[in-house]
Amino acid sequence: MSTMPTPEDLQRFLDVATEAAMAGGAVLQKYWGNLSSIQEKGRSGDLVTAADRDSEVEELAVLKRHFPAHAILAGESGQLGQLDSPLLWAVDPLDGTTNYAHQYPLCAVSIGLLVAGVPTVGVVYNPILQDLYRAAKGLGATHNRQPIQISATTKLSDSLLVTGFAYDRRETIDNNYAEFCHLTHLTQGVRRGGSAAIDLAHVASGCLDGYWERGLSPWDLAAGVVLVEEAGGQISAYDGSPFDIYSGRLVATNGTLHQPIIQELGQIKPLPQFGPM
Ligand code: IPD
Ligand code: CA
Repeated sequence: MSTMPTPEDLQRFLDVATEAAMAGGAVLQKYWGNLSSIQEKGRSGDLVTAADRDSEVEELAVLKRHFPAHAILAGESGQLGQLDSPLLWAVDPLDGTTNYAHQYPLCAVSIGLLVAGVPTVGVVYNPILQDLYRAAKGLGATHNRQPIQISATTKLSDSLLVTGFAYDRRETIDNNYAEFCHLTHLTQGVRRGGSAAIDLAHVASGCLDGYWERGLSPWDLAAGVVLVEEAGGQISAYDGSPFDIYSGRLVATNGTLHQPIIQELGQIKPLPQFGPM
């Protein structure tokens, strides 16, 4: 295959990503409410469970069976192959581990494919609520096989946004608390969903108008950004410059609200102190 996949190639990647997400999702369904041990990965609050590990084993088995030559970057296994490989899968076996551990049903398998570094195929599957989001460049975005598109909201004051807080939030002043307060005042609300992949899927399907977050990993984002772009939305860095998946931060919106949100994020003053005021 040449570097640029054909629409047929993309459809096949999408179908294999869906097969992998369903296989991983079955593991998450099995462990739901039955976790015997929950551990921290190192940083306080960064949890890992048998569900994360076993879900990833199933997803990687499907991807490797269909595409043995492709590189993989996965939440639990790390890097398998070269990051600059022309075809790199970014796999989060359980995005929203904290939610999952508490049986709060916002969690997902997230599987994205970067083609020459560009997020090109994405599947986000919530096996608890049985929500399947799929997209590939030029093929559109769907939720449970029905086409989706971004919201039509035009004013920040009418918008509902979502964000999240990285695991280093207790150690850094750049912890998103100031941004959260600022945008909460200007909008109809800012939600904290607890799964970056689902936050992006919700922007793509139009029930949320925009999302921003820092401190993320490529596997949190690779699938969701394809959903947003294919649903008609816009993705960028905080300052409006092109999105870099390895920077860990992004703004994702319905397009109309992109500049207003970028402008507000540019005005944030750091908080005077950490922790409770
Ligand atoms: C986390 C979720 C959460 C975000 C964190 C991520 P995980 O992923 O996406 O919404 O705020 O920064 O690390 O740890 O549940 O896979
Ligand atoms: Ca994640």
